[in-house]
Amino acid sequence: MIESKLPHVGTTIFTAIGKLAKAHNAVNLSQGFPNFNADPKLLGLVQDAISEGYNQYAPMQGVYALREVISEKIEKLYGHYYHPESEITITASATQGIFTAISAFITPNDEVIVFKPAYDCYEPAIELCGGVAVAIQLLGKDFRIDWESFKSAINEKTKAVIINTPHNPTGTILSKQDMLRLQAILKDTDIILISDEVYEHLVFDGNTHESAAKFKDLASRSILCASFGKTFHVTGWKMGYCAAPKELMVEFRKVHQYVVFCANHPMQQGIAHYLKNPDHYLSLGRFYQQKRDYFLNALEGSRFKISPCSGTYFQILDYSAITHESDLSFAQRLIKEHKIASIPISVFNLNNQDNKQLRFCFAKTEETLDRAATILCGIR
Ligand SMILES: Cc1ncc(COP(=O)(O)O)c(C=O)c1O
Repeated sequence: MIESKLPHVGTTIFTAIGKLAKAHNAVNLSQGFPNFNADPKLLGLVQDAISEGYNQYAPMQGVYALREVISEKIEKLYGHYYHPESEITITASATQGIFTAISAFITPNDEVIVFKPAYDCYEPAIELCGGVAVAIQLLGKDFRIDWESFKSAINEKTKAVIINTPHNPTGTILSKQDMLRLQAILKDTDIILISDEVYEHLVFDGNTHESAAKFKDLASRSILCASFGKTFHVTGWKMGYCAAPKELMVEFRKVHQYVVFCANHPMQQGIAHYLKNPDHYLSLGRFYQQKRDYFLNALEGSRFKISPCSGTYFQILDYSAITHESDLSFAQRLIKEHKIASIPISVFNLNNQDNKQLRFCFAKTEETLDRAATILCGIR
């Protein structure tokens, strides 16, 4: 008899919806990935690295030139210096970075605060370490953090908190005031902050990304998790990095070296060159804002209620004016009857709270967004 370490984990909603979407040949705006290719320049740089023979293990911490350019990027954008030698590690995706961070610090019965709806890789990792995820529901249809609830959730067992800005699945961002509030609450504690910032460059409407690195006391207790998959339209490469103060990074690397040892070498070489040109990531906000606006303009006249997202490549649509059915059943019906796939938000909420909201990914070509919008406008 095999005893599962994750008895409550089954097939993820992404797999279930993806399978249904395929079976019904639906326009698939469910999973978060672009349906267009990356910059040929980046592809060429990786191909060059393969041809030049960068095909054996990279250094455990990652290629130094890549860590150096990441350090410069973070300092320029967020005003905090991470030493490339001791404070930055290249990971095989943000998922691995997050898993490694949790594994490095969480011991049995430690509590980790997570905000719901939450990206789905946090809680299983906490559980595998014997930790306890303490979930706090974001409030209202605009998903605000209730800082008073957060403060009262903290106790002597609280080891870490995980934040995610810009936020998947809601497309909201944390403001400077939010981060200052978080900093004030954590001050005088030893709580570690795992800051999932994979959408750091996808921020719209003149807003700025409030990285934990911008706030001195937060930076001193944070592990920043980033993903090249999101930034360079290459989710299948599974490449990312973590940045943290040396004393945290020492522990992080102890685990990292036995989880993957190192991340993919030729891709690190290619990205190291590509990242030298800041336009390649600074233009991303504009690029995705245009996509969001294109999608939302095309949805004008539909019966969905729309509050434009502030970041990420996800847009939430509220269907409460269309039907009272549950978001899971409506999402399934949309696939079967209308041939469009989305993700129901309730699966990420505390107690599967159902606010009649679906998540649509707009990292798609205009042709795909047109097809999706035509279908959605026809749902009355
Ligand atoms: C909030 C969030 N964190 C982490 C990840 C994982 O990123 P990666 O593909 O680099 O593992 C994702 C991917 O969807 C995400 O949305």
